[in-house]
Amino acid sequence: MTVTETLAFSDEAMKKYEWLLSRYPTRKAALLPTLRIAESEFGELGVPQMKYVADLMEIPPATVFGVVTFYTHYRRAGVGKYHLQVCSTLSCALRGSGDVVSRVTERLGIGVGETSECGLFTLSKVECLGSCDTAPVIQCNDDYHEGLSLEDVDALIEQLRQEAGKGGA
Ligand code: FES
Repeated sequence: MTVTETLAFSDEAMKKYEWLLSRYPTRKAALLPTLRIAESEFGELGVPQMKYVADLMEIPPATVFGVVTFYTHYRRAGVGKYHLQVCSTLSCALRGSGDVVSRVTERLGIGVGETSECGLFTLSKVECLGSCDTAPVIQCNDDYHEGLSLEDVDALIEQLRQEAGKGGA
């Protein structure tokens, strides 16, 4: 039995999925919210999870892979417990997102696209998060942290470390 064969939506998730299908004109059109369900059910979207969604929706796995890797808001396999996504588009860049990235790198010892050895943090640079008036912005998992000073960045990292019950990253 393969990993993909052991994956399955819970009854509740399947009900949500079926409700979604009733709201969209085609099966494929419901892919983005279905991936949200899969992310919530499985914790991350790796190859087996993407294959499960492709089989469930009867669409090509390449289509699912293309969507998951195009959008930055899906939780991909291998990402740390806290995914720090620093907006690097114009408003945030003008308001110091480069310094925010440098600060995170300095504090955690990881570069963009890397995950800390403890598995807590992954750092990414992303395009506009849609909150330009509160630049610079970090999206950490589903939460936005806006109007960040470098001290705010330090405080956020410390808060996350404490939440995780760890002393360091
Ligand atoms: S430019 Fe950063 S949120 Fe839009």
